[in-house]
Amino acid sequence: MNFFTVSFFIIYFSVGAGELCTKITENLHYSCMGRNLSYIPPSIPSSVQTLDFSFNDLKHLQKTVFPVLPFLRVLDLSRCHIKHIENDTFNNVKNLTALILTGNPITYFGPGCLSSLSNLQRLVLVDVGLLSLQLQMNNLTKLQELRVGTNNIQSVSLPSIMSNFKDLHLIDLHANNISMIKTDQTAVLREIGRNMTLILSRNPLSYIEPGAFKDIYLRELDIRSAFVSSAAQKAGLQALYGLNVKRLMFGKFKGDFKFQFSDADVLDGLCSIHFQEIYYYIIERPSETVFIFRCMINATNVLVKHGVIDEMEYVFFHEIKELYLLQNQLATLPGKQLSHLHTLEKLVISHNIEPIRPGTFIDMPKLQYLDLSSNRMTLTRCCTTLLSGTPQIRYLNFSQNAEISIELGGLDGLASIEILDFHHTRVLDLGYYSVLSNLTYLRYLDVSYSSITFINIFSFYGLRKLEILKVAGNHFRGDVARYLFNNLTLLEHLDMSYCRVVELHPSSFKNLQRLRLLNVRGNKLMTIDFLALPDLKRLTSLYADKNSITSIPLHVLQKLPTNLSEFDLSSNPIDCSCSQTDFILWIIQNQNILKQPENIFCKTFSPSSDFRATDFDIDSCVHKKRLTIVLSVCFVTVVVLLSFLVYRFQFYLQYCCILLRGYRSPGQQECSYDAFVIFSSYDEVWVMNELMENLENGVPPIQLCLHMRDFQAGKSITSNIIDEGILGSRKIIVVVSQHFIDSAWCRFEFELAQSRFMLEHSPNIIIIILEDVEEGKTKKVFGLHKHLKKNTYLKWSRDPLSNMRFWIRLRKAIIAKKK
Ligand SMILES: *[C@@H]1O[C@H](CO)[C@@H](O)[C@H](O)[C@H]1NC(C)=O
Ligand SMILES: *[C@@H]1O[C@H](CO)[C@@H](O)[C@H](O)[C@H]1NC(C)=O
Ligand SMILES: *[C@@H]1O[C@H](CO)[C@@H](O)[C@H](O)[C@H]1NC(C)=O
Ligand SMILES: *[C@@H]1O[C@H](CO)[C@@H](O)[C@H](O)[C@H]1NC(C)=O
Ligand SMILES: *[C@@H]1O[C@H](CO)[C@@H](O)[C@H](O)[C@H]1NC(C)=O
Ligand SMILES: *[C@@H]1O[C@H](CO)[C@@H](O)[C@H](O)[C@H]1NC(C)=O
Ligand SMILES: *[C@@H]1O[C@H](CO)[C@@H](O)[C@H](O)[C@H]1NC(C)=O
Ligand SMILES: *[C@@H]1O[C@H](CO)[C@@H](O)[C@H](O)[C@H]1NC(C)=O
Ligand SMILES: *[C@@H]1O[C@H](CO)[C@@H](O)[C@H](O)[C@H]1NC(C)=O
Repeated sequence: MNFFTVSFFIIYFSVGAGELCTKITENLHYSCMGRNLSYIPPSIPSSVQTLDFSFNDLKHLQKTVFPVLPFLRVLDLSRCHIKHIENDTFNNVKNLTALILTGNPITYFGPGCLSSLSNLQRLVLVDVGLLSLQLQMNNLTKLQELRVGTNNIQSVSLPSIMSNFKDLHLIDLHANNISMIKTDQTAVLREIGRNMTLILSRNPLSYIEPGAFKDIYLRELDIRSAFVSSAAQKAGLQALYGLNVKRLMFGKFKGDFKFQFSDADVLDGLCSIHFQEIYYYIIERPSETVFIFRCMINATNVLVKHGVIDEMEYVFFHEIKELYLLQNQLATLPGKQLSHLHTLEKLVISHNIEPIRPGTFIDMPKLQYLDLSSNRMTLTRCCTTLLSGTPQIRYLNFSQNAEISIELGGLDGLASIEILDFHHTRVLDLGYYSVLSNLTYLRYLDVSYSSITFINIFSFYGLRKLEILKVAGNHFRGDVARYLFNNLTLLEHLDMSYCRVVELHPSSFKNLQRLRLLNVRGNKLMTIDFLALPDLKRLTSLYADKNSITSIPLHVLQKLPTNLSEFDLSSNPIDCSCSQTDFILWIIQNQNILKQPENIFCKTFSPSSDFRATDFDIDSCVHKKRLTIVLSVCFVTVVVLLSFLVYRFQFYLQYCCILLRGYRSPGQQECSYDAFVIFSSYDEVWVMNELMENLENGVPPIQLCLHMRDFQAGKSITSNIIDEGILGSRKIIVVVSQHFIDSAWCRFEFELAQSRFMLEHSPNIIIIILEDVEEGKTKKVFGLHKHLKKNTYLKWSRDPLSNMRFWIRLRKAIIAKKK
């Protein structure tokens, strides 16, 4: 192999290892689990303290397998196909405190291989084909736990050196092949300290030499499923006489084969064992009545699980503190049997196989904890029928039963309750009356899914100390929810999920200044504007998923509680339209606090759409917005332009309107004047002195319409021009002068007049040229230039002769019949 090949391999390996092992804590904790590795990757730093190397392929362990890892404490080599462990294997990892070799088919176990591990505290040799406990453990003086379950060990005999191991507190020998225990095998156990837990479960014990455990002190002895037969168990228990054990666990694991009981005294051996706590797991129904509790009379803790006991015997426990009856077949709560137990503090009767009938617990002055959950029990008139003389009760769990009705005053003797759990039990009366009002110490109340309809706003009246309230899966009548929680000022956790709430008034959470968690999941809320309430500033978690929320307004988003770190908005029909860009942008930017942001879908496009809000393209909205702005600007410009035009040409528009009005009734208008005179007020002198004088006083008199004289007061000028002048006169006389051309009004009148006669096709406009006007200027007045070219006109002159002719022609023109 040349140099290049070597370096290639080194590079390849380090790259590969980088991918192969997972860094859990930089420099300290690495996991190479399940990577089919046959070497420790060089990428593992020498500072590593914990290395999970399970499920790899090591086969043959020797010193060279491990680099020098002086800080390595925990090494997991489970299921690495290890067959062979050399004496010097762990020399480079001397400081291990935990070594796990579970599930390796070890055929050669170097007798000195553990010697270097003088700091080892935990040695796990489960399922490694071990045949005996006689390992070279001389140097393991700090050993605390030895787990050698699932091997082929046949004897409990320990190496004598172990009696010096001061810290040893666990020897797990479960599922070995121990069928016999003799007195000489327990010698080391007898010398070991009193804190030892010995697990012998799942062994095929058929014989224990009587007295083999006499004067042995153990913390715990587990002999569940450890006997081959009922007889062996009976004899075995008897042989254990003189044993002192704090906790004794016996009976059988669920699923294990069952014994045939024949003797009523199978458990008599227990009477000569000294124990405090006893855990009995029965799975079989004895054919005889077995006095299960007879020898447990001095115990402080008793647990009977999976027992097929249907009635409890009367036992006067002297010192009992805790009693657990789990998954039994009790027909009735053993109220009579357990009443008057003055030492009992904790009683758990739960998961009974059959629905249980209630009973009454009387005079249990120390009872603090009562768990009657999951018994399918129906209890009426709680709680006087259940408890009496139990003044210390703090915990009452009645969850997962059938039904409970609480009478008013029913909790009177139970004022010290701090934790009350009724979930999944139908609770009557709670929504109607303030039945809990005396529970002034209550901290935790769970009435989830209790079929309650809250009708009374005082349902939680008096619960001043309540910190956790769960009302999920119930209903609120009307706006009861608005007032129900108002006085619960110490509330930190409120679960009102799945309550079919459509709307929440912001003041529903008034005064809840300590609220940290609010769950409104699975309701029908469309807004969560209450979030802006300053009272909710401590909120850290809000679950609002599975509602009908389409958006959250910007002002609410801006006032969100500052410490909100968990916000579930998923499964809402989010409106992803451009009007919601603030909201969508907020979603995109706050994915760190949003729970399951990938499940926030846009329902704008279609209800079944799976378009994620986080994928929404805000930029497209910016373009749309720009387009809208441009269009708006164009629109405004057009409007301004139009307004200007309308202003500029308002006369014509008005005229058009009036014209349309006028022409709607053509012919009906009787002409009251012979001629309407259009002239500039500068020419008024001429009009009054010459025109009026000559025409009105002549024969026949010609009636002129002059604006300063004949226009009706109070009418708009335009209307006057049209009604009186143009429509009310048969002819129009236009007095053209320099001033006429300059006057907007004159031009306007002329144009109006033209348009009337243009429509009527009659040349009834008579033009008088009072003074010469440049031809170019006549073009300023629309139509005048054309008119002058096409029609004859009269020209005023001071010369008396032509003056005379002027008046004659003018009269003729006026009098001439309209066509
Ligand atoms: C594990 O690695 C060995 C070579 O080291 C290879 O022969 C074997 O196929 C690998 N097994 C798997 C499951 O990858
Ligand atoms: C392994 O060590 C033990 C004692 O520590 C020793 O007796 C034995 O000879 C050693 N075996 C080998 C193969 O080195
Ligand atoms: C056993 O531990 C002692 C010190 O605790 C040490 O000197 C000795 O070398 C260890 N034995 C082996 C075989 O490592
Ligand atoms: C268990 O030990 C007995 C001897 O006590 C032996 O006959 C039997 O084969 C062992 N069982 C197994 C599974 O090794
Ligand atoms: C007894 O053992 C337990 C573990 O089973 C351990 O936590 C405790 O520290 C030990 N106590 C003494 C005094 O050794
Ligand atoms: C219970 O303890 C008393 C003395 O405290 C003793 O006389 C009695 O035998 C014990 N009973 C059982 C079953 O251990
Ligand atoms: C009440 O019991 C149920 C069922 O055993 C359990 O799940 C629940 O956590 C208990 N409630 C409390 C408050 O401990
Ligand atoms: C809240 O407390 C006040 C003052 O104690 C009381 O007047 C009011 O009725 C209470 N409201 C509710 C809903 O409990
Ligand atoms: C938010 O959290 C910080 C640190 O956990 C805390 O100091 C602060 O009081 C909290 N703010 C509110 C409003 O609860």
